[in-house]
Amino acid sequence: MVEDGERVLSSIVASQLDIHGKYGGVVPELASREHLRAVVPVVREALQRAGCALGEVDAIAVTQGPGLVGSLLVGITYAKGLALASGLPLIAVNHVEGHIHAVIMEAKQSGHPVEYPAVALVVSGGHTHLFLVNGDGTYRLLGKTRDDAAGEAFDKVGRLLGFGYPGGPVIDALAPYGNPKAVRFTLAKMKGNTTDFSFSGLKTAVLRWFEARDMAAELEGRKALLCETPRPSVEEWLAVTPKTTLDLLASFQRTVVEELTRRIAGCVEEAGAQTVIISGGVACNLGLRAAAVPRVTGARVLFPTPRLSTDNAAMIGAAAFPKLLRQEFAGFDLAPRASMPLA
Ligand code: KG4
Ligand code: ZN
Repeated sequence: MVEDGERVLSSIVASQLDIHGKYGGVVPELASREHLRAVVPVVREALQRAGCALGEVDAIAVTQGPGLVGSLLVGITYAKGLALASGLPLIAVNHVEGHIHAVIMEAKQSGHPVEYPAVALVVSGGHTHLFLVNGDGTYRLLGKTRDDAAGEAFDKVGRLLGFGYPGGPVIDALAPYGNPKAVRFTLAKMKGNTTDFSFSGLKTAVLRWFEARDMAAELEGRKALLCETPRPSVEEWLAVTPKTTLDLLASFQRTVVEELTRRIAGCVEEAGAQTVIISGGVACNLGLRAAAVPRVTGARVLFPTPRLSTDNAAMIGAAAFPKLLRQEFAGFDLAPRASMPLA
């Protein structure tokens, strides 16, 4: 529940990490089934925590895409039902725009709103996209990944090395224990749009590093740990991870962070941006948070608080607010979109 696009009255997240973790990644069928199970209690709890009755709500915002169609369909169908029963208008929101609005909302709330133009990096399991955000709420795509998203690269490396799913938070937590300069990775030079990203070469380089070593005993140790506890502590991971692997993780993370911040800095300079918005699950990364501010000159760098960095409904409510003001409502023919470009 969000008020005036700037105050989070309640934010309820039903995490599916424990369910998908067993399979090493998101299983679409399980995701939609869990959405179906969670949607009613989550909405009820959101209203309760906000101390609000449905009658006090102005509109119902729902994610139209991009994403897994099954999960989107559950949300859209439920939102339509709620809108029909309550007579409230329905607002369709782009998931990526939601990530950007998590930051716009928090900046507004802090009393220091985002100044435009802004450069926004949405970096998650499905996206590594750079946008120019204008004050009138329009977006221009500046660059995107040509293969894996940064979060996907974190997850694939994590899975390869036996750290379970999702890999991002574990790699982030272990990276400070390794030497980030121990392994030198070179990233492919971009032909065409030099603001694009590519992480598949880095993923292959990690695979080569892995294949050149006998990792069997080490992997066995981590597998046994994951069987004991689905979410081990840093100390538990450190007990089953030798220094060479910690060095690899630190070097991998440094390479991703360097690539992301280099592109941001270039875009800020070119666009004369006043603000940098970094959002999406990977925006939780402490290495990225530490590196971005010193790397960017001439613009204020903003991250959402971690609870609003990963997927949540409050950011969708925040992105819906300008649409509410413009009375930009969706019809009951609203359909999910697996792919839904923002610009
Ligand atoms: O935005 P999000 O919750 O869902 C998508 O829209 O994809 O992002 C999830 C992604 C996963 O790939 C996860 O590994 C990554 O964000 N992630 C991180 C961290 N926390 C989450 N990656 C690096 N460092 C982190 N601390
Ligand atoms: Zn997301």
